[in-house]
Amino acid sequence: MTQKVPTANPRLVRRTAVAIGVLVTIVMVFAAIRVAIDWPNIVAGTTPGDDDFAERYVAYPWLAYLHIAPGVVYLLGAPLQLSRRFRTRHYGVHRRLGRILLTCALISGLFAFLFGVPHAWGGAPEAVATVLFGCWFLTCLVLAFRAIRHDDVRQHRRWMIRAFTVGVAVGTIRIWVGIFEGVEQAISRGTTPGAPDPTMFGIAFWLAFTMHVALGEWWLRRTPALTG
Ligand code: HEM
Repeated sequence: MTQKVPTANPRLVRRTAVAIGVLVTIVMVFAAIRVAIDWPNIVAGTTPGDDDFAERYVAYPWLAYLHIAPGVVYLLGAPLQLSRRFRTRHYGVHRRLGRILLTCALISGLFAFLFGVPHAWGGAPEAVATVLFGCWFLTCLVLAFRAIRHDDVRQHRRWMIRAFTVGVAVGTIRIWVGIFEGVEQAISRGTTPGAPDPTMFGIAFWLAFTMHVALGEWWLRRTPALTG
């Protein structure tokens, strides 16, 4: 008798997929904004005038873009890898793509430290959040890789989901920053256009990453028995 593999509630899966789509899109938009602002300056060897936020990206392009570029590749590819349908239909592609995406995620995580800690816009709160959640991100990736090397598909899935929830939290950071900016404008304290308030930026890091780690654990509790 073949054992039936349990599946998650289809409505929950659909809603989660939509949320992931929205968050990945937000990250892509902000990555594109970075490129549009930074690269003309990087190529011309100029500084972006009164934009202090962008100045760090232009001053340290290698550190910044060795974080952003592989991170973007990872975030675009990971949802495909997490799709059960894709994995069952294209297992060979899943394995090959998995190696590429894992490498991208490890590089992005490493450069999150090298750029984000010394040059954090949000100061110490952002730098500490980066170290803590960056270590968690890298640990999840390494444990996911170790699990699959031991043919432990269940643990591989769990660690990959944990890693992805941290990666996609970058979109939620931007949502929090947007909410804070909206509130700040509403109480008319005014903000420098384009530059988020550093304190709020640091708080947004903590809120988003904490929320996502908790959401990841919640998802794993809701779908404990899934093997794929
Ligand atoms: C893996 C997918 C990731 C992608 C695609 C990504 C993308 C980006 C982008 C586009 C920026 C530019 C900031 C903006 O304009 O919003 C950025 C900055 C940054 N990211 Fe990531 N990121 C990823 C993961 C992470 C992780 C896991 C951490 C650490 C836990 C992290 C820490 C940072 C830090 C500290 C900055 C600098 C923020 C600043 O002070 O300007 N990122 N990232």
